[in-house]
Amino acid sequence: MSVDPSQDNGPDLTQGVSTETLADGAMLAGHVGDDAVLVARRGNEYFAIGAECTHYHGPLAEGLMVGDTVRCPWHHACFSLRTGEAVRAPALSPVACWRTEVREGKVVVLEKAAPTPKAPAASAAAAPGKIVIVGGGAAGFAAAEMLRRLRHEGSIVMLSDDDAPPVDRPNLSKDYLSGAAPEDWVPLRADDFYAEQGIDLRLKTSVAGIDARAHEVTLGDGSKLGYDRLLLATGAEPVRLSIPGMDLPHVHTLRTLADCRAIIARAATTRRAVVMGASFIGLEVAASLRARGIEVHVVAPDKRPLERVLGPELGDFVRRLHEEHGVFFHLGDTAGAIDARQVTLNGGDTLAADLVVAGVGVRPRLALAEKAGLAMDRGVSVDAYLETSAPGVFAAGDIARWPDPRSGTAIRVEHWVVAQRQGQTAALNMLGGREKFDAVPFFWSQHYDVPINYVGHAEGWDELVIDGDIAARDCALRYKRNGRVLAVASIYRDAESLMAEVAMELEAA
Ligand SMILES: Cc1cc2nc3c(=O)[nH]c(=O)nc-3n(C[C@H](O)[C@H](O)[C@H](O)COP(=O)(O)OP(=O)(O)OC[C@H]3O[C@@H](n4cnc5c(N)ncnc54)[C@H](O)[C@@H]3O)c2cc1C
Ligand code: FES
Repeated sequence: MSVDPSQDNGPDLTQGVSTETLADGAMLAGHVGDDAVLVARRGNEYFAIGAECTHYHGPLAEGLMVGDTVRCPWHHACFSLRTGEAVRAPALSPVACWRTEVREGKVVVLEKAAPTPKAPAASAAAAPGKIVIVGGGAAGFAAAEMLRRLRHEGSIVMLSDDDAPPVDRPNLSKDYLSGAAPEDWVPLRADDFYAEQGIDLRLKTSVAGIDARAHEVTLGDGSKLGYDRLLLATGAEPVRLSIPGMDLPHVHTLRTLADCRAIIARAATTRRAVVMGASFIGLEVAASLRARGIEVHVVAPDKRPLERVLGPELGDFVRRLHEEHGVFFHLGDTAGAIDARQVTLNGGDTLAADLVVAGVGVRPRLALAEKAGLAMDRGVSVDAYLETSAPGVFAAGDIARWPDPRSGTAIRVEHWVVAQRQGQTAALNMLGGREKFDAVPFFWSQHYDVPINYVGHAEGWDELVIDGDIAARDCALRYKRNGRVLAVASIYRDAESLMAEVAMELEAA
């Protein structure tokens, strides 16, 4: 990434930095010519890699060094300090890497190093020939990308019933929906990536059945496709309320790029919108519509937004934050009917609305797995290697329930980063690797200028410890059970969030 000449870009690293100013475990941001570069020291080794995360440009020098990797402060991507490789999603592209040398007590950054290809995951003889991925979302895309990074030479067919190539779904309720990001930010990769990488991406292609014994999938048009390994990554779909008016043209749900485009098109002529559901997606949509100058009313049965996940204190804060931005809440109430001009609430109120968005939760898309006879448990049951009960068939993302090493129970979550990391682990294991999926769940949510980061998994807690000041947007909340920290939610405490992640990893080790 290029440095900004109007900013202080730190030292010129080609001139060297005293090794005494760089303690063991320390990182420093500087530049090499026009490139922003991070130098890091581990023992007597010195590394230099690009200073900006390839996800959304997070400043890696403010992240956390763990072994010979650095984790991004914003959404916990992880890069190798030795090679620049993006070893953990959500970043999928490497950062550049430079050679370093210690001369006369200074670490000097030299020329860029050639990219280091990853070692193949399997010997050519053991490698499966044909891999089929059902799903072109977070998990499916990350798996396909990782298969090629692992130098899988066989075929990869990615089947998606969406009409758009894999997109940055979190952006659909945030910057793209608010108008802050152009549409070319949305695809995870340019269209030519798939042909270049030999990934046979078939859009508008639904999979109707799986014959796990015959190693074959049946497509919606009745044709069959054989596989050696299969990844199921069918994600989730929005819940649709069964109330009158849900099928009116101004009533929307949000999952796909097409859904998002339709909301944006409608927003152009909307003065007042009703968002049904005070979920993460519902509230992000509310914030994005406010950014477009639309009056927004949020209707939800809950007492407070997000209380079940984040607790009452953070729930109240989120409510106030949205109210400060002009959102009207109608809590403890639900929509009973919608017509062309208004939404009638069960409590008796009516709200005028030119646009209605339902963000009332999602349902995992399990029909294929159920029909195929795979073991199910409120999701598709997978083992620690993400393999289902059918050998050679893996599952990842919103549909997968996996054994969580920390709680000792099987869990299923609906987080972008978890889906991507599961896709990456499944890719390795489809090639014959034996990597357990043991990543600590992580998600983030953005409300105006306030990011909320959440690491861990707490379905319930008996103690909530608040460190810092929520109203001042400087806090970490620890959700505990029997004295053990299950999860940490934080606002502008990125280092603490990263350290909590590492502590939870060590707990399971
Ligand atoms: C608007 C929005 C914002 C979000 N923001 C965040 C966020 O900020 N942070 C966060 O952690 N999470 C966020 N999420 C959740 C996150 O996007 C999901 O957890 C993640 O996308 C799950 O990945 P997946 O691969 O399991 O499923 P998906 O990404 O949903 O992909 C599923 C794919 O399977 C395809 N498919 C399904 N069935 C079939 C079939 N039978 N045949 C062919 N194809 C099929 C679909 O077309 C799709 O391509 C957000 C979700 C939405 C909708
Ligand atoms: S900006 Fe680095 S992980 Fe998102």
